[in-house]
Amino acid sequence: MDESWVNSAERIGADLHLELTGPGGGRAALIRALREAVRSGRLAPGTRLPPYRSLAADLGVARNTVADAYAELVAEGWLTARQGSGTQVAERAEPLRHAVRVPRKAPPRARGPRHDLRQGTPDASAFPRTAWLTSYRRALQQAPNEVFGPGDPAGRIELREALTEYLARARGVRTEPGRLVICSGFGHALRLLFGAGVLRGPLAVEAYGLGFHRELLRAAGVRTVPLPLDEHGALVDRLGRERAVLLTPAHQFPTGGPLDPVRRAAVVDWARARGAVVLEDDYDGEFRYDRKPVGAVQGLDPERVIFIGSVSKSLSPAVRLGWMALPERYVEDVLEAKGEREAWASVLDQLSFADFLSCGSYDRHVRRMRQRYRGRRDRLVAALATHAPHVEVTGVAAGLHAVLRLPPGTERSTLKAAAWQGVAVDGLAEFRHPETDMAAGDGLVVGYATPSEHAYGAALDALCGVLPPQEPPTAGPAVG
Ligand SMILES: Cc1ncc(COP(=O)(O)O)c(C=O)c1O
Repeated sequence: MDESWVNSAERIGADLHLELTGPGGGRAALIRALREAVRSGRLAPGTRLPPYRSLAADLGVARNTVADAYAELVAEGWLTARQGSGTQVAERAEPLRHAVRVPRKAPPRARGPRHDLRQGTPDASAFPRTAWLTSYRRALQQAPNEVFGPGDPAGRIELREALTEYLARARGVRTEPGRLVICSGFGHALRLLFGAGVLRGPLAVEAYGLGFHRELLRAAGVRTVPLPLDEHGALVDRLGRERAVLLTPAHQFPTGGPLDPVRRAAVVDWARARGAVVLEDDYDGEFRYDRKPVGAVQGLDPERVIFIGSVSKSLSPAVRLGWMALPERYVEDVLEAKGEREAWASVLDQLSFADFLSCGSYDRHVRRMRQRYRGRRDRLVAALATHAPHVEVTGVAAGLHAVLRLPPGTERSTLKAAAWQGVAVDGLAEFRHPETDMAAGDGLVVGYATPSEHAYGAALDALCGVLPPQEPPTAGPAVG
């Protein structure tokens, strides 16, 4: 932070907004207003008050009025005054209890489970703070003044250029800066595409997927039609009259496999033949371990596929930055839906991320995390082989989660046992589309990226401890 700013803030003291009303003239009104500000917590203990002269000038009262009011409140114990450090709110001046709303129960995520193996988040302890700060500082130093005005709804050109290069290189996406629209993540992209009426009619989705996205679509008035899956991904030959399909081709969410190459071509053919469009959710495309990279379906036909990505798995879901590579015909409508100026994705974060990409920090971070997650995946597989060899683990060639296939009828009891032992984990059934007749069986979706590195071993042990035991082999007919 700029030193001179800190110093001048210290000198000037807090910026106070006081209304002097009621009887008793300026001095009494000021005392009441200050007392109320301290009592309500608006002025926190330790806050330095403005010097007499500046507060007097702000309020249009005499300097002595302010000096008298401060002296009175010091005498009452609301404020303290020390030579050389001005007047401050006293440490013991507690705000009234009822003035602060204290939630009676901590929100469910606030305290967190003992062992968190829920899918959905990368290791929060691994956020690249130093490298991000370097990029943020550099972006801020180099930013022209216009950056601090209203933002372009398409997103900063620096970021769209850096993403064009990165997505081509890392994901095989064919696009250009003019077709990229920055948004605040996948959910926002869906809202923009459907809420604005860019895509109409029912949307085919994979029979197993993220309920949050289905809910979001339902709220936008979009009907979703489940598309069954097998081990090669969605059965795209079942697509019919829908105008759009949402797929997770690189790593089916949550069951885990890549979409079969024949089906990748088939879905693009379907979209061409029907004038439809494919929405490609590339939520964890960077994290692949055992197999050759699976490029984006978008590369097969950039006019028929909308490629959507975000930093939620690769960096953090707190950053809220995502992107859409759009067919040309949708660009204008999506931009119109976003509005005249950027209202979602912070322009400063966009510039930081542009720098983070261009200077190689993103590649370094992804490589480091890929190694870490691969190690965790291997430890999970090894732990299961030792402690629960009857539990098959699938979907492990990529991504940040794996699916543990449980013996039939044991998912609910396993989830109960897990909760009892403080292990937070998702059951496969919760991802099932309510209207599908497909059943993927009993299972757990284990987010092995979620715990911090030091907590992972204990989480694995706890998980193995709650898995159902192997069924005893049924006795065969007696021989002899
Ligand atoms: C299937 C799937 N798609 C997309 C996302 C990314 O969502 P967002 O960019 O809105 O955080 C996630 C969660 O990280 C996800 O699980």
